[in-house]
Amino acid sequence: MAQNSNFKSPERLDSLQGGAAEQSSGTVPGGKSRDTSLSGVDFERRSFLGKTVGGIGAVVAAGALYPVVKYIIPPAEKEVKEKDEVVVGKASEVPPDSGKIFQFNKDKVIVVNNGGKLSAVSAVCTHLGCLVQWKADEDIIYCACHGARYEDNGRIISGPQPLPLAPYNVRVDGDDLVISKA
Ligand code: FES
Repeated sequence: MAQNSNFKSPERLDSLQGGAAEQSSGTVPGGKSRDTSLSGVDFERRSFLGKTVGGIGAVVAAGALYPVVKYIIPPAEKEVKEKDEVVVGKASEVPPDSGKIFQFNKDKVIVVNNGGKLSAVSAVCTHLGCLVQWKADEDIIYCACHGARYEDNGRIISGPQPLPLAPYNVRVDGDDLVISKA
């Protein structure tokens, strides 16, 4: 109880008010004057910190978004220069009375050996794009999808196809089978 009375004693209240007045008068303990202005180093430091944090955030966001953007946007296709002449395989791969499809640049080409005479035409049917085959028993190039029939030089025999098969040049060079643009 003695403490309570001391707590509300006039001397204590005076000392408290005096201290508050002293503190609000612009001095701090230690005798230094309080810096009441809000300009100067603090703002510059905050601005620098804000920019630094913002910059780090931008770098992190860019790092996280980069794989997503790379996934969404396909890479530009590299232009591959087409060759005029390509060794597609060995001549022995197309024995007499057979046909075989080879890759020539981006195209598929069927090489036909019709009784020793070589010819080469596009292997893509001009009707709806199925791959054709050599039918040795009829000596024709045939499309099994809808029955298109072509001669070994690509000319139309019968069927729904609107155009002949595009021709290519083919020759044997040593053991190699060489296809070139017609
Ligand atoms: S795609 Fe060849 S006949 Fe239809």
